[in-house]
Amino acid sequence: MTNPTAPARLVVLISGAGSTMRAVLDAQHDPGYGARIVAVISDRADAAGLAIAAEAGVPTSVVALADYPDRAEWDRALAEEVARHRPDLVLLAGFMRLIGAPSLSMFGGRIVNTHPALLPSYPGAHGVRDALAGGAKVTGCTVMLVDAGVDTGPIIAQAAVEVWDDDTETSLHERIKTVERGLVTTTVGRMAREGWTVEGRRVTLGTTKGDA
Ligand code: GAR
Repeated sequence: MTNPTAPARLVVLISGAGSTMRAVLDAQHDPGYGARIVAVISDRADAAGLAIAAEAGVPTSVVALADYPDRAEWDRALAEEVARHRPDLVLLAGFMRLIGAPSLSMFGGRIVNTHPALLPSYPGAHGVRDALAGGAKVTGCTVMLVDAGVDTGPIIAQAAVEVWDDDTETSLHERIKTVERGLVTTTVGRMAREGWTVEGRRVTLGTTKGDA
């Protein structure tokens, strides 16, 4: 962390509604939360979460794939835009694209993602739909560190959500998101305040801040 007395600088990446990001904005009203969103970046200009962030006075920007000649250029532009805000932590909160090598090399080990399933079950873009189709009776959400794979990074925290017989993808996702918002805010706050260690695939929260 850049300054152990200041709140951790959090850059949030979104693609959609931004309800997870909004939950972190709410949590940071508590001066003891330990993290502060310093920028919100989206790959989509129409992401509804951008307006929520702007209303909260947080700088926003868009780095859209369509504006770059190829994926590699976009990966570089995204990493540079994130770096401009000097993050201690990067949170993917409903960011629906893979993080490329430039971001991984600049912020590797400090990028946190949240996924609406109990990994390693049902990774990818349709975690809720896939759990329903797979007949899961319990699913949930996972907060993990990002690596080069698709939802394969070390797991930081998980919470379970029961699947109901009459669930649709929408009803189940809404119930997961209610739990997920709490899991993300609690986990990011703890990471910022207490630090973490990674041994193999095991992440432990609560290491003295600065040791991570
Ligand atoms: C969350 O459920 C998050 O886990 C999911 O998108 C939703 C974002 O909601 N992310 C993924 O599926 C990534 N694979 P929000 O835009 O309301 O925060």
